[in-house]
Amino acid sequence: MCGILGCVGDEVSSVLVRGLKRLEYRGYDSYGFATLGDSGIYVVKEVGKIGDVRLPSSKLGVAHTRWATHGRVSRENAHPHLSCDKGVAVVHNGIISNYLELKRELEEKGHKFTSETDSEVIAHLLEEYLKDHGLKDAMLKTVRRLKGDFSFIAMFEGVEVLAGARFGPPLVLGCGSGENFVASDVLAFIDRTDDVIFLDNGELVILGKGFYELFDLDGNPVKKRPVKVAWEVADVSKKEFAHYTLKEIHEQPSTIPRALIQDDGRLKPFLEALKGSPIYFVGCGTSYHACLVAKYLLAKVLKKPAEVILGSEVGYYSELMDGGVLIAISQSGETADVLKAVRMAKAKGMKVYSIVNQVNSTLARESDHFLSINCGPEIGVAATKSFTAQLALLELLVMGVAGKRPNLDGIGEAVGSVMHDELMKEIAERFKGSNDFYFVGRGIHYPIALEGALKLKELSYVHAEGMAAGELKHGTLALISDGTPVVVINPKDETYNETMSNAIELKSRGARIIGVSDEPSSVYDYHVKIPKLDWYAYPLVEVVPLQLLAYYMAVLRSEDPDHPRNLAKSVTVE
Ligand code: G6P
Repeated sequence: MCGILGCVGDEVSSVLVRGLKRLEYRGYDSYGFATLGDSGIYVVKEVGKIGDVRLPSSKLGVAHTRWATHGRVSRENAHPHLSCDKGVAVVHNGIISNYLELKRELEEKGHKFTSETDSEVIAHLLEEYLKDHGLKDAMLKTVRRLKGDFSFIAMFEGVEVLAGARFGPPLVLGCGSGENFVASDVLAFIDRTDDVIFLDNGELVILGKGFYELFDLDGNPVKKRPVKVAWEVADVSKKEFAHYTLKEIHEQPSTIPRALIQDDGRLKPFLEALKGSPIYFVGCGTSYHACLVAKYLLAKVLKKPAEVILGSEVGYYSELMDGGVLIAISQSGETADVLKAVRMAKAKGMKVYSIVNQVNSTLARESDHFLSINCGPEIGVAATKSFTAQLALLELLVMGVAGKRPNLDGIGEAVGSVMHDELMKEIAERFKGSNDFYFVGRGIHYPIALEGALKLKELSYVHAEGMAAGELKHGTLALISDGTPVVVINPKDETYNETMSNAIELKSRGARIIGVSDEPSSVYDYHVKIPKLDWYAYPLVEVVPLQLLAYYMAVLRSEDPDHPRNLAKSVTVE
């Protein structure tokens, strides 16, 4: 779960630095660059986020931003990794599962390793094969030795080309004018070109300033034409906002309506699938919470049961999952646990339908059918606008099966009305010293309570628990004492009276109540006002102030909301 980038052109140093910064959402515990100079490969590596790096002028180079998996966070373990003769530099994303065995073999041949990473074996293998083979053959021989899920880019002393390979995590070729790129994500080079080729698994590429050559594992040419990436992908600036996370929260009045614009032909197979049974939803993190909302929608609107399983848990239900429909929800479409679940389901002959933001993702490509939530790039590590877009699309689908259209015509305005920045800042200021936060709700609001707690944990590192309000009395009430902040999600629907009773119970035990509701109440220490909507639309407006609360808590506690510690946006390892 790292970001890799390679550029070749006339002068790429600043392009590399700018591009790598855009990949930081993929990992940011250390970073590194390699460029090519007269005296060979020049390497810069550091621990931490990418600072003000100045690289020497170069016609080509590679870059890496790391989220540690093999080997602790250190300068030595940061990429690029060099071969013994310093003639090869490699940046890698993913896992080489047989690296120990390869390392032993290479050490016996005299290779000296300088890091604890699995990645370093690639540089030494390439060095070994380059002794007797040309570059293309050395690449092929190297990848044939590697096991696991990996993508990498290599550069070579004295040759003005880069080579890349994809055997798992994404790799995209950018075809510019007089310059070419290869990276984990289009975002890395979108300011230079929007003509791209998505490498499929098992494909390799060699690229120079004015050419590229794609080939497969047998060395046969792969013919693919560049495609234009959508304009939304190009919108990667923070605009007037201090952080991407804040910008993305504020984009929701326009991203939610956009998720509802779907092509009938693409919707049809989903509507048919939702009529079948059994139905399994799979997702991780925030996308898992969207699955829980879907379960509720199905129960309420279609009177149908659905199983919701965490991506990482699906393997343990393999006996149960034997036939039926799998609906996988993933913003990135690259989450390894979700992909594993999808592959298992496909192997059992199940049909897979996915809901993604990244239409060129592995998940979209491996599914029988996919729909896009169409919310543009989400750079902030914590999912915000992608969550509400997932919910809106799920509402469209479930209502669609019932032959209706959700009443979401004024939803953009409604969401605009809950951008309570000032109030949420005030609440964050009041509770920034609290060590524990609770979020409660019932029915469709229970997943929103889970999501509110997840956002707070991710962004501000405050311990938070989301739960079904009715479960308080079975344990958690014991933790409530004078001043404990509790967010009560309580719109005026079928859950209102019972949730209000829970709020009163909490208050009588000293809790400070932050009530998210369309009805004011003296029970609330803070009333976060939401508009009156149809029951299924409430989650779209109640989660937004909770995102803002998490954001302002992070800022007031001097944390970086765009880059939460130990987390990465796209989790491509199990
Ligand atoms: C990571 C991110 C979360 C996200 C989860 C699932 O853990 O930090 O924000 O919800 O992955 O991501 P996906 O791309 O599958 O929706």
